[in-house]
Amino acid sequence: MKTIFSGIQPSGILTLGNYLGALQQFAKLQNDYECYFCIVDEHAITVPQDRLKLRHNIRSLAALYIASGIDPEKSALFIQSEVPAHTQLGWMMQSISYMGELERMTQFKDKSAGKNAVSSALLTYPDLMAADILLYGTDLVPVGEDQTQHLELTRNLAQRFNNKFNDIFTIPTASIPKVGARIMSLQEPTKKMSKSDENDKAFISMLDEPKKIEKKIKSAVTDSEGVVKFDKENKPGVSNLLTIQSVCTGESIEMLESKYAGSGYGDFKQGVAEAVISVLQPIQAKYAELIDSPELDDILDRGAEKAAKKANKMLAKAKKAMGLGRVRK
Ligand code: TYM
Repeated sequence: MKTIFSGIQPSGILTLGNYLGALQQFAKLQNDYECYFCIVDEHAITVPQDRLKLRHNIRSLAALYIASGIDPEKSALFIQSEVPAHTQLGWMMQSISYMGELERMTQFKDKSAGKNAVSSALLTYPDLMAADILLYGTDLVPVGEDQTQHLELTRNLAQRFNNKFNDIFTIPTASIPKVGARIMSLQEPTKKMSKSDENDKAFISMLDEPKKIEKKIKSAVTDSEGVVKFDKENKPGVSNLLTIQSVCTGESIEMLESKYAGSGYGDFKQGVAEAVISVLQPIQAKYAELIDSPELDDILDRGAEKAAKKANKMLAKAKKAMGLGRVRK
């Protein structure tokens, strides 16, 4: 059976973008693959975090994974910092990556732009991400479009390691959805929807109440043309809403365009809001049952145990390949 690994940062409550671009795919894949899903808390601390908020977000993300359909009997769900092999292999990856290639990462450039105190972990973030993936012999990594560059670097590092030391790592492939891989901000539709956006109206949180979702979609930036048509260049706001509705309902963009032909943006936005609410409401109900349950802790304990078992085997191989440690006499 082939293996899947993916991770999400607990750096805020997940957005509709995280769900449509990544999380939604996970549940569908778990019947056909051996799956490892991770709450990458060590990635989150590459930028400053409030300790209590981080704790809350880690648990909240675990509950959202399960509420979105991750079945702990099929998939391992775990917290990155509870499986030390990640940072150990991450360090080894740092030793084979180059400053130049890390400095070229757009995420690093975006997050460090204009700041004078940037952590060194923000630069070496992709090394840890490569370690996450390579530890599990991962074949496929389901992610949104913004992770393509990190995945490409992971492939390069795996190849570099295999050539230099020993051929132990599987070269992973990214799995990016055809529609929904880049959900845009509702206020600036040329920018990605992000959980760390300062403007609350720019994103839909997976835990927003229906009224709030409706309000945010109604105030989403569109244009003055009044025509519901997909045109990313000239109508980014409308195109984003069409994408959201299409992924939420399963109707194609063309079907939606003809459904709203001749009607204004009012009806269209109402339709988008209803589609989003009907996807998120059942997830929110399940989330409420889980968030304070001891069952969630049991799931995470079992997940970390299963993940560590597999990860430690690969870590041992990587250490041996690099000549770390010793051989018993
Ligand atoms: P993160 O936490 O920023 O996002 C989690 C997942 O959500 C996707 N995503 C989106 N998809 C569509 N539209 C959007 N607006 C949108 N915003 C985010 C992301 O592409 C991602 O799939 N570096 C990763 C976390 C990570 C990881 C890994 C992922 C660490 N190790 C190993 C895969 C494998 C990140 O910051 O994702």
